[in-house]
Amino acid sequence: MLRPFLPRKFPYTPVTDVAGEVIKVGSGVKNYKAGDKVVAVLSGGGLAEFAVAKESLTVARPPEVSAAEGAALPIAGLAAHQALNQSAGLKLDGSGKQVNLLITAASGGVGQYAVQLANLGNTHVTATRGARNMDLVKSLGADEFLDYKTSDGAALKSPSGRKYDAVIHCATGIPWSTFAPNLSANGKVIDTTPGFSAFMTVALKKLAFSKKKLVPLFMTPKKENLDYLVKLVKEGKLKPVIDSNHPLSKAEDAWAKSIDGHATGKIIVEP
Ligand SMILES: NC(=O)c1ccc[n+]([C@@H]2O[C@H](COP(=O)([O-])OP(=O)(O)OC[C@H]3O[C@@H](n4cnc5c(N)ncnc54)[C@H](OP(=O)(O)O)[C@@H]3O)[C@@H](O)[C@H]2O)c1
Repeated sequence: MLRPFLPRKFPYTPVTDVAGEVIKVGSGVKNYKAGDKVVAVLSGGGLAEFAVAKESLTVARPPEVSAAEGAALPIAGLAAHQALNQSAGLKLDGSGKQVNLLITAASGGVGQYAVQLANLGNTHVTATRGARNMDLVKSLGADEFLDYKTSDGAALKSPSGRKYDAVIHCATGIPWSTFAPNLSANGKVIDTTPGFSAFMTVALKKLAFSKKKLVPLFMTPKKENLDYLVKLVKEGKLKPVIDSNHPLSKAEDAWAKSIDGHATGKIIVEP
């Protein structure tokens, strides 16, 4: 799916999320100097000892935030933040009326942040996860749980009979027909991995003037949002879940783990 957006020439160094120390700055850089600790979003090139970051997508990393926590934040954290705050319209200060949320794959990189950020708002959170991650997802602050490998879990039915005002959909392969009966009258599914069928559903819902909607998420990284997430980690309000740490010399192990689709939280590579 991403082929049109990725470089066609090899060698290509992947990875967009990094944390580290500034070694050298370009002549136009105003706010950072050598020695500063930072977190940055790159357009690639992160799986390396040295990388080039834009000032516009780099934020300061305070001492309370470890390099691993910083590197665990960018794309997954920003996607969860944008899905909740922008696409679902949730206020993350606890104001507004209560929103019933379903978060799928709550044990994954994006899902773990979605649950924790949702807790900053006035929400009731139902989360899907496998049995082995029950305790983890509970500790993140979800109110109710579904095991995606059971029939009730696969049907996404709220254990307490609630209808969902918004679904932050971080899993794959769940059709609209499974979501639709579980949504409130104006319920939305925010799809973090929209495929062809998602775009067909968006078009059909528009044609039918449906109040229930599917909203594809295209995350646009913003410095102020990354700064907000780093501050939440500093204040102890957000705790990145780290699946595993791998040395850069074994980056292929980290990659295999990521591709496997069964990580609990984020996978870190350290030089
Ligand atoms: N739109 C954007 O900008 C954006 C940004 C970042 C990521 N994404 C997308 O968001 C999706 C999630 O990414 P991620 O990094 O969070 O995934 P991930 O970390 O690879 O997710 C793995 C976790 O999901 C659980 N899981 C797998 N299938 C599940 C299901 N059907 N129901 C419930 N839990 C399930 C696994 O549990 P078990 O091990 O128990 O199976 C595992 O803990 C990906 O498709 C990714 O491409 C989109």
